[in-house]
Amino acid sequence: MEELLKMRGISKSFARNRVLQGVDFDVRAGEVHALLGENGAGKSTLVKILGGIYRPDEGEIYVCGERAGFTNVLEAQRAGVSILHQELMLMPHLSIAENIFMGRELGGALGVLDKRAQEKRAQELLADFGLDFKSSTRLEALTIAQQQMVEIIRAISFNAKVIAMDEPTSSLSEHEAERLFELIRSLKEKGVGIIFISHRLGDIFELSDRITVLRDGVAVGTLETKETNEDELIRLMVGRDITQYYAVAAGRKVSDEVVMEVEHLSDGHMAKDVSFTLHRGEILGVSGLVGAGRSEAAQCIFGLRRRRAGTVAIHGKAVEFRSPGEAIKGGVGYVCEDRKKEGLFLKQDVRFNTSINVLGRFLRSLRYKRAGEEELAARYVEKLQTKVTGTNQCVGFLSGGNQQKVLISRWLASTDDILLLDEPTRGVDVKTKQDIYALMGELTASGMSIVFISSELAELINVCDRIMVMSDGKTTGVLNRGEFDQETIMQLATLEFRRKAEGE
Ligand SMILES: Nc1ncnc2c1ncn2[C@@H]1O[C@H](COP(=O)(O)OP(=O)(O)OP(=O)(O)O)[C@@H](O)[C@H]1O
Ligand SMILES: [Mg+2]
Repeated sequence: MEELLKMRGISKSFARNRVLQGVDFDVRAGEVHALLGENGAGKSTLVKILGGIYRPDEGEIYVCGERAGFTNVLEAQRAGVSILHQELMLMPHLSIAENIFMGRELGGALGVLDKRAQEKRAQELLADFGLDFKSSTRLEALTIAQQQMVEIIRAISFNAKVIAMDEPTSSLSEHEAERLFELIRSLKEKGVGIIFISHRLGDIFELSDRITVLRDGVAVGTLETKETNEDELIRLMVGRDITQYYAVAAGRKVSDEVVMEVEHLSDGHMAKDVSFTLHRGEILGVSGLVGAGRSEAAQCIFGLRRRRAGTVAIHGKAVEFRSPGEAIKGGVGYVCEDRKKEGLFLKQDVRFNTSINVLGRFLRSLRYKRAGEEELAARYVEKLQTKVTGTNQCVGFLSGGNQQKVLISRWLASTDDILLLDEPTRGVDVKTKQDIYALMGELTASGMSIVFISSELAELINVCDRIMVMSDGKTTGVLNRGEFDQETIMQLATLEFRRKAEGE
């Protein structure tokens, strides 16, 4: 088969941090080649080198047999390489059409920008994808998942020979992901070569032809997908077997004491009627389809969103937090799902990002403050095995999954009472997931209570004491351990839609 892309001996360091070491990587025409590895293994860096964003220190790139030395993004695009980056790179205040054609505006006969042609072409692309937005809509009016779809459209609209997708599904629903997979299959048929990066092993098995595993910047193996299995991949990725993936601390005991009681909570929009109790030491899962109002309910409790109806009581006392600051004082923490927009200070270091919520604790003297922050940040880097060069590393330079760990650390440091976790394992590697589950176990064993929102049924079923299911903004059931399985949960998650369909 023809090698569309050959990368040979690619090495890259940032200051003294060696991130890639002599990596060889090929993509054939019509192939999906998955790139797999732990957080910080160097996947995004390799793809950014391919896209002309970083220059490699050593190594060569060949596209269709021709040596390419991309010094910028446009050069890479012209050579037929298109990249869908892990973090959205779109402009929120521009229209969908402008975003799709950014940097290569369609010109009219006189070379002036033909805005109409551009919007028309964009409209066709949107229709191909089953999105019914006007292409003149400003991007900021779209949800994160929809913006991700625009980014995908942009990446494929170049008629590229090689498309690299860096975690394209991390903010998509099952349905949207399925649509993306169909699209990838049709690109394959056209002979496009695809690099696919994901932490969802299921997706990798479904889509890819070959898999290359990176470990600490070294390509440790390239395998035919048909001839390998999850265990082998994990061993290659982590360097050892992972046993007891869902070990949630033995000897935990949930007490009868109610720490939080939520009744008929509504934000007047997505969350319509949410009721549950949370016990001391409990992990309460929250399941539901995308758009079920799970995040909105959490944000309502946490004071990020206005409550329109219902009550929240903490330790028996009615509360209404009007800001996150008040919620933190009230002992509640919230790890949000969109780390970039609502979470991290990307220009600040790991120490700052970890300790920001609890600065008050360290204010006695400046020297004490620094030492306190330092100790705190170092403790959580150790606890979550966050890959950093030091606690003074700027968070914007961490890999995606390691940014997530810093965000989780901040909230762990700021409460010992109630923690709301919104998709905390999204974009993190298998080993880190295991660490996060274990940590949730430890925390609850020591008396904390956790509300755990997740779209991954397997982790909810294996980790939670009880699971609340939501459908169309409403609590449709709360299941005890032993009562929940995939089918029961899905039934409850689609209950409102079935009710409506029957009513019609
Ligand atoms: N611009 C940069 N400056 C300094 N260090 C960087 C920069 N970009 C990446 N790194 C470092 O390179 C290493 C590899 O990061 P990379 O983003 O390639 O990992 P990844 O495999 O994509 O991980 P993830 O699964 O978390 O996305 C990390 O240790 C990261 O901190
Ligand atoms: Mg990455």
